[in-house]
Amino acid sequence: MRAAGSLCLGLLLPAVLGLEFSYHHSSELGAFLRDVHQQHPDITALHSIGRSVAGRELWVLVLGRFPTQHTIGIPEFKYIANMHGDETVGREMLLHLIDFLVTNDKRDPVVTRLIDSTRIHIMPSMNPDGFEATTVPDCSFSEGRFNENGEDLNRNFPDAFHSYNVTIQPETQAVINWIKNETFVLSANLHGGALVASYTFDNGNPATISLEGYSRSPDDDVFIHLAKTYSSNHASMYKGVYCDNKSVFPHGITNGYAWYQLQGGMQDYNYVWGQCFEITLELSCCKYPPASELQAFWNDNKAALIEYIKQVHLGIKGQVLDGNGQPVPNVIVEAKGREHICPYRTNRHGEYYLLLLPGIYVINATASGYGSILKTLHVPNGPENFSALKCDFVFPEVFTTVRDASCPTKPLYQQFESISAAGKPTLRFLALVTVLYTVFK
Ligand SMILES: *[C@@H]1O[C@H](CO)[C@@H](O)[C@H](O)[C@H]1NC(C)=O
Ligand SMILES: *[C@@H]1O[C@H](CO)[C@@H](O)[C@H](O)[C@H]1NC(C)=O
Ligand SMILES: *[C@@H]1O[C@H](CO)[C@@H](O)[C@H](O)[C@H]1NC(C)=O
Ligand SMILES: *[C@@H]1O[C@H](CO)[C@@H](O)[C@H](O)[C@H]1NC(C)=O
Ligand SMILES: *[C@@H]1O[C@H](CO)[C@@H](O)[C@H](O)[C@H]1NC(C)=O
Ligand SMILES: [Zn+2]
Repeated sequence: MRAAGSLCLGLLLPAVLGLEFSYHHSSELGAFLRDVHQQHPDITALHSIGRSVAGRELWVLVLGRFPTQHTIGIPEFKYIANMHGDETVGREMLLHLIDFLVTNDKRDPVVTRLIDSTRIHIMPSMNPDGFEATTVPDCSFSEGRFNENGEDLNRNFPDAFHSYNVTIQPETQAVINWIKNETFVLSANLHGGALVASYTFDNGNPATISLEGYSRSPDDDVFIHLAKTYSSNHASMYKGVYCDNKSVFPHGITNGYAWYQLQGGMQDYNYVWGQCFEITLELSCCKYPPASELQAFWNDNKAALIEYIKQVHLGIKGQVLDGNGQPVPNVIVEAKGREHICPYRTNRHGEYYLLLLPGIYVINATASGYGSILKTLHVPNGPENFSALKCDFVFPEVFTTVRDASCPTKPLYQQFESISAAGKPTLRFLALVTVLYTVFK
């Protein structure tokens, strides 16, 4: 009876059977997002954060119990795909993720709790012009990697380590404005051409690079955990088999610089200037596989995509308040021993979010001109509970202003430049590495 009933329903309402496994070009992608928003207006918001060089919208669908605006205590998460227009799997994975989340809200307990506890921003394509320029599926590199002006968007962000003179493209500027506008805490950038989870830093200097050619951030333990969360929940990434079968990535993860160095990448920008931890996910050896393989890619990535979002609840979060109970922006809140080169500060609501693995930490909240409050905290495993540990800092004084503290856009590590030459590979070697590997990240 039941089987017959659902069969009838399927025949009557083919539209509810879900999104088909095919490539969605710009107009279909826009139509799908508008349709999702129309059918689920309570948990979605749809907006464009700008336009590509050729004038295509840069769509973002936002999901959450309060999708139209930030809510205090609810962390902001983002996924971006198709930054290289010829790397197409991530673009379709994010459309299927959207479909999965909206259809399982109030049905699946994990999806329901995710939507209750998190505001999830999804940008299926950062380079719609490059995608449209890549006409047929092709596993190898194509010109569609670049935007309409021929620029590689993952080399187009300000760089923390070197003077890097690039013309910021409209797609890049839109993402930079978006990052400044929201308090993103965790993010991933979906690529193709390899099968690995790569984490910051992609660039470095002697202050960050160890002898093994690894560029370590102060949050290296957290980044390893984040990358492993994705690879170990993926059907095969954790095996670490490189696409050419020659080398392996242990656990299916790698430090970005240890794989190959690059300047102007998006993940370093997020971490240094956006207060947002981002990793780069290479989802397919073939950059643009035939549509017939998309269903298998979805099966391989679905659990990993969900489990990764949950990690936005690692660590601690809270507000800084003054003696009048007013939230205070611009207060530096960091864990001792992992201070950032550009200090992480409270947002306009006086909020902070710090991703930390379970353990004991000393947290230092410093309001310029008013001193510091130090607290020792025992941090539990937040994702298990869909919430970071909540801890507010209350200063006794009534604050007038806390000095504004924008971070310089010039290279932050330039004081180390003079000693960096000795530790660097020769230019000739760098050029060779660039030629060999530039097709991936
Ligand atoms: C950066 O590049 C632009 C355009 O190529 C050029 O006009 C400008 O002088 C350069 N700036 C520096 C600091 O090299
Ligand atoms: C910035 O945030 C405001 C308020 O949440 C929103 O209306 C606007 O669309 C956002 N702009 C961008 C570029 O994200
Ligand atoms: C890698 O090895 C697997 C299993 O041995 C084989 O099926 C696949 O074709 C190989 N791939 C390449 C690119 O050599
Ligand atoms: C707390 O942070 C501030 C600002 O980063 C720093 O100046 C101060 O030395 C720190 N205090 C301790 C005890 O680490
Ligand atoms: C889980 O979250 C609730 C509500 O935020 C909190 O009261 C509880 O202590 C948390 N439990 C753990 C183990 O973190
Ligand atoms: Zn790429």
